[in-house]
Formats: sequence, C-alpha cells, structure tokens
Amino acid sequence: MIIAIDGPAGVGKSTVARQLASRLGYLYLDTGALYRAVAWRTLRSGIDPTDSKQISALLPALSIQMLFQNGAMLVLVNDVDVTNELRTPDVTAAASIVSAIPAVREWLLPVQRQIGQRGSVVAEGRDIGTKIFPSAPIKFFLEADATVRAERRHRELVAAGHHASMEKTYQDLSGRDERDRTRAVAPLVPAADARLIDTSSLRIEDVVEQMLAAVAAVS
Ligand code: C5P
Repeated sequence: MIIAIDGPAGVGKSTVARQLASRLGYLYLDTGALYRAVAWRTLRSGIDPTDSKQISALLPALSIQMLFQNGAMLVLVNDVDVTNELRTPDVTAAASIVSAIPAVREWLLPVQRQIGQRGSVVAEGRDIGTKIFPSAPIKFFLEADATVRAERRHRELVAAGHHASMEKTYQDLSGRDERDRTRAVAPLVPAADARLIDTSSLRIEDVVEQMLAAVAAVS
C-alpha cells in the first residue's frame, strides 16, 4: 500500500507525511532527501550543480542508502551518514537544480521503487503520484498560497539557526517552485486522480485528519 503526497516547497508535505505514516504505522519516504543526497555529492565533488555532464558521470559510482530506524531516517552516501548535512541552504539550492537533470531522475527511480516494495509507505515528493508510484491507490496534492509557504519556511530556517530574510526566503522558494513546475522531465503537476488539499488556512492536524478519513474510505 502506497500513499503518495506531492506538492511544492513549504506546503507542509513533510510534516503531514511523517505524522500520517506514524498514525498508520507506515514507513515515511522523504524522496527530497534523495535529490539532496545527489546535490550533496555534487557539491562535495566540486562540481557545478548545472553541469549535467559531470553529474551524469558521477552517478555510476554513487551509492545512496536510506536506513529507517525507530521512525527516523538516515541517508548514507557511499556509506557515509550525511543526514545532518542535507538541509543546509547550499544543498537545498543545489537539489533544486540537479533534480531537473533527466539522468538524475532516471537514476533515482529504481531507488525509490525499491523502498516502495518494503511494504506500507507514505511517499512524499513532487512526482510520486505521476511518475514514481502512478498506481498508488491514494494520492494527495497539497497546495498553499506562496506567501504562506514562504512564511512557514522562514520560521523553519530561523528555528534551525539560519539567518535568512523573509524576502530572500520568498524568492528562493518561488525560484524552486518555478524550476519544479516548468522542467521538461517529471514537472510538478497534480496526478489526474490526486485529491487536492489547500493547506493555506488549515492546521497540520486538520490536514492529517482529512487524509486519514480518505484512507479509511478506500481501505
Ligand atoms: O522536498 P525537498 O525540498 O526536500 O526537495 C528538494 C528538491 O528536490 C526540491 O526542490 C525539488 O526540486 C526536488 N525534488 C524533486 N522530486 C521529488 C522530490 C524532490 O524534484 N520527488
């Protein structure tokens, strides 16, 4: 059983996906972490994130593993635990760029599907319902006003100790959205059979309850 959750940055996907997975006893698959891991390797190798040729050449020697331990997820790149280095502003910006490279998406497809085979999974990303698990029985697409999403992301950054202005946060988020929505391969669009939820004025727990009701209705 796969539950697919897609949507733009700052819409609350990770938080609701993690809570939904925990309430249902499912595995939580954060696919953004995989793109972040590729971005981390790219930066660590001194490669420009826009250099698709060099990044493609790096893929055959790349190994990314996700370990799930007591509800937490660890990401290993060539056996090194990089989990705590994946959410820095540099990696975030690079992930948005490398994720538009077709070879990267192709390389990560079987990685995601293999994790999906482990059983009941709540998978969250940008193309889960359209490309990775198109036959998932339940799909959600979350949306929210861009200003609301930037405010949420700004609060997260400040709480994590990063210095970021609201204006810069808004610009970064809008730039990532634009790239995700307009890229040639697997752009961010709702699957035809996805349930749309606008989270602009909803609390996290209300979104999770709405999702649980939808899951109960199809099980
Ligand atoms: O969700 P998160 O912000 O961690 O994702 C990092 C980046 O990876 C996003 O900006 C997006 O460009 C990309 N991504 C993607 N497809 C996914 C998950 C993430 O293109 N399924």
